[in-house]
Amino acid sequence: MKFLEEKIIALKKEKNAVILAHFYQDSAIQDLADFVGDSLSLSQKAAQVDADIIVFAGVHFMGETAKILNPNKKVIIPDLDAGCSLASSCPPDKFGHFVKQHSNHTVITYINCSAEVKALSDLVCTSSNALKIVNSVPKDQPIIFAPDKNLGKYIMSQTGRDMLLWDGACIVHEAFSIEKLLELTRKYPDFKIIAHPESEEHILKTASYIGSTSGMIAYVKRYPTEKYIVATEVGILHKMQAAAPYTELIPAPAKDDNSCACSECGYMKLNTLEKLYQCLLNEAPVIEVAETIRIKALKPIERMLELSKEE
Ligand code: 13P
Ligand code: SF4
Repeated sequence: MKFLEEKIIALKKEKNAVILAHFYQDSAIQDLADFVGDSLSLSQKAAQVDADIIVFAGVHFMGETAKILNPNKKVIIPDLDAGCSLASSCPPDKFGHFVKQHSNHTVITYINCSAEVKALSDLVCTSSNALKIVNSVPKDQPIIFAPDKNLGKYIMSQTGRDMLLWDGACIVHEAFSIEKLLELTRKYPDFKIIAHPESEEHILKTASYIGSTSGMIAYVKRYPTEKYIVATEVGILHKMQAAAPYTELIPAPAKDDNSCACSECGYMKLNTLEKLYQCLLNEAPVIEVAETIRIKALKPIERMLELSKEE
């Protein structure tokens, strides 16, 4: 093990800290983490942590969710600028106005949004439980689904129900090129496409499997002799390959980039080992959530965790 990794492990022990990391983090960070998972399992884990410090190796809304669940713990993140295009597509003031205009609607927000937007919601969901959360609302009850229109459209296609969608999208999943993807399938006809539901409808139509990051890994693990073109952030390949060591994986191609770095989330990749070390050393930057917002945002998160108990 290298010097920096050793120093991080020693600091983690000394400070009774736990490192939670998303599948989109650099492999070196994933390898150092105490737990690596998708958005749902990371929030479930954050709800159970008994360490003094939570280091969230992910993006800001993930650290915020951990803080909402753990107001008395210190939650730190390697880079405070690690945002999310979905979260920034949904400013709380505009969303609050939209919600007011449709006050008879149940508000379901994808976890990729700010604490303020969660505070305006009835239910929170992630990509792995969105179907279940939407189905928990009576069929005749109108729903606002925000901020991801692509996930929203996918859930509408699965449930047959209409929802009022916010016009947000993930820059990484919207960057996939259908032309290049089809070209790739002609070149590699024995590869199956698997996709994250943040991808656009035309990409999802080509997929043999659609699911959250942990769903995609579980699918590859279940069918390890197949080969896959993977339509989500490229960081997932690390755990996916470990789950099925003999499979072949190709990252789905993006519209205007010929390197595989195209499917990288620039926000997720702001976190580096060096920043992780500095963050543990200085116990900063810290994630803060105003108590009035936290109390309101906690309710829809707790409802989600309750409804997802067997996930
Ligand atoms: P999941 O972790 O729910 O699969 O979502 C992926 C994502 O975009 C996280 O930002
Ligand atoms: Fe947000 Fe997309 Fe990055 Fe996930 S991959 S953090 S949804 S910008």
